[in-house]
Amino acid sequence: MTAQATLNSKQYDVLVIGSGAAGLTLALHLAARYRVALLSKQRLQDGSTWFAQGGIAAVLDEMDSADSHIADTLDAGAGLCHPDAVRFTVENSTAAIQWLIDQGVDFTREQGEYHLTKEGGHSHRRIIHSADATGRAVHSTLIEKVRATDNIDCFEHHVALDLIRQPDPSKGRFRCAGAYIYNKNTEEVELFQARAVVLATGGASKAYLYTSNPDGASGDGIAMAWRAGCRVANMEFNQFHPTCLYHPKAKASLVTEALRGEGARLKLPDGSRFMHRFDKRGELAPRDIVARAIDHEMKRLGADCLYLDISHKDSQFVREHFPTVYNNCLQYGIDITREPIPVVPAAHYTCGGVMVDQFGRTDLDQLYAIGETTFTGLHGANRLASNSLLECLVYARSAALHLDEMLEEVQPPRPAPAWDASRVTDSDEDVVISHNWDELRRFMWDYVGIVRTRKRLLRAEHRVRLLQQEIREFYANYKITSDLIELRNLALVSELIIRSALDRRESRGLHYSLDYPNLRELAMDTILVPENFADQQQFV
Ligand code: FAD
Ligand code: SIN
Repeated sequence: MTAQATLNSKQYDVLVIGSGAAGLTLALHLAARYRVALLSKQRLQDGSTWFAQGGIAAVLDEMDSADSHIADTLDAGAGLCHPDAVRFTVENSTAAIQWLIDQGVDFTREQGEYHLTKEGGHSHRRIIHSADATGRAVHSTLIEKVRATDNIDCFEHHVALDLIRQPDPSKGRFRCAGAYIYNKNTEEVELFQARAVVLATGGASKAYLYTSNPDGASGDGIAMAWRAGCRVANMEFNQFHPTCLYHPKAKASLVTEALRGEGARLKLPDGSRFMHRFDKRGELAPRDIVARAIDHEMKRLGADCLYLDISHKDSQFVREHFPTVYNNCLQYGIDITREPIPVVPAAHYTCGGVMVDQFGRTDLDQLYAIGETTFTGLHGANRLASNSLLECLVYARSAALHLDEMLEEVQPPRPAPAWDASRVTDSDEDVVISHNWDELRRFMWDYVGIVRTRKRLLRAEHRVRLLQQEIREFYANYKITSDLIELRNLALVSELIIRSALDRRESRGLHYSLDYPNLRELAMDTILVPENFADQQQFV
């Protein structure tokens, strides 16, 4: 797209795309020295971070140790975690939590001490939390700080469309020079340029029909980075959370794993327990094992849901520790202090993503990525519960420290052309976009879900390519809308998930294939390389 520069162009030191735990943390660390633009495609509080329930894993108890947290993370990751990334994250966990406390986050205390809860796969109580609304406590505190910081300009309802690549004569390589941003308020595409761009756009679980995630989780950062020539890895590992509320009117309603940490039991419709048949850790086995066991039992019995029961615990304890789940369920007529909760698994977390190093650097110079949108090597084939917010905090700080040191030496990018919208017209076919959304999410759920086969994956691959063809036509001919931007990204990310799943000819962690039920001896990441791979694009 080409045209002359317009008045709609903005210049910053750093452009941060995404206002979840990762983006806010990085922006706050950088604001002392640099001017930061912080973008959210909705309101600042609308990402997954706000909805996090259980808490943040960290080594905080003197009976616990970094080695134990590392061992649990490696075990949950089914042989595919990168040990250096795991050690780096865990060893920075205590400082990350202290930083949140310094910002004013109010974590739950009991008798003056921070209360630590437990979740699946953890061999110690090490999850610090704010009752069962940890995300809201963290997010609201950081948003308040960001709004009060002079050097950070917030742009809500601004959707990043695509990154801009530019030759960097000093290096003979391409660099990232900014992004085209769709302003939902004016319905125009603006140009944001910066010395560095950071993707903090969250995950892609909206690719699935049933998900615990809020609406924006459409994998935009992964799709933009791929189109800009960056590699992505391990996209086949979609984590399905074992327990989401099953109710026709409940949308994206998680029932936190911390309930099981505090003694809740999974039950079949006849009231009997079953998890011990699948893993000796029972209800506290890692998430892939519990989700697969529930899926197996539901299919075996032809049941619409199974049950999670905490009604045997003291009702005051339940209401105090789990006010979010208690109130959510009560809305639908379920009193969790007296009766079991109907639950089903749902897509929850994207373990793979844009490949980055310890400083969040991607394959494209001056493009960084942090948070759920990335692949750091921490999660392997299955993320350990509550390690995600930790990863956001640790890598955001590490990327910020790196940027802080080197940004002064980076030249601002040259002016890029403004977006050219002259060839496109208004669409009168919005219904097609919503139909494609539904179709995509349904076949991803049916064919690329908890249990996979090669035949189903090939069928999904065929369908996604047809959809992409239609989306390309739409994109070229009609005016941009945020639904179209998300659909285009979601279709691309779904293609990457399917391709990665087809490449993995074994069953490991979250990827379970009936055609390849065994574990291969050699654990390898699935790395997809785009045709315009940035590292190979020498222009001189
Ligand atoms: P998000 O918080 O998802 O933020 C993404 C941001 O990017 C948003 O501001 C969004 O508007 C913006 N964005 C996206 N695309 C664009 C675009 N194109 N243009 C502009 N802006 C864009 N993890 C834990 O560790 N502990 C928990 O207890 C826990 N509980 C969870 C409960 C729920 C219900 C869910 C859904 C997740 C939970 N997780 C938990 C996972 C964790 O919350 C997320 O992985 C984490 O919050 C991701 O943070 P993030 O900053 O990477 O992205
Ligand atoms: C939960 O509270 O069960 C979610 C925790 C997580 O996703 O890490």
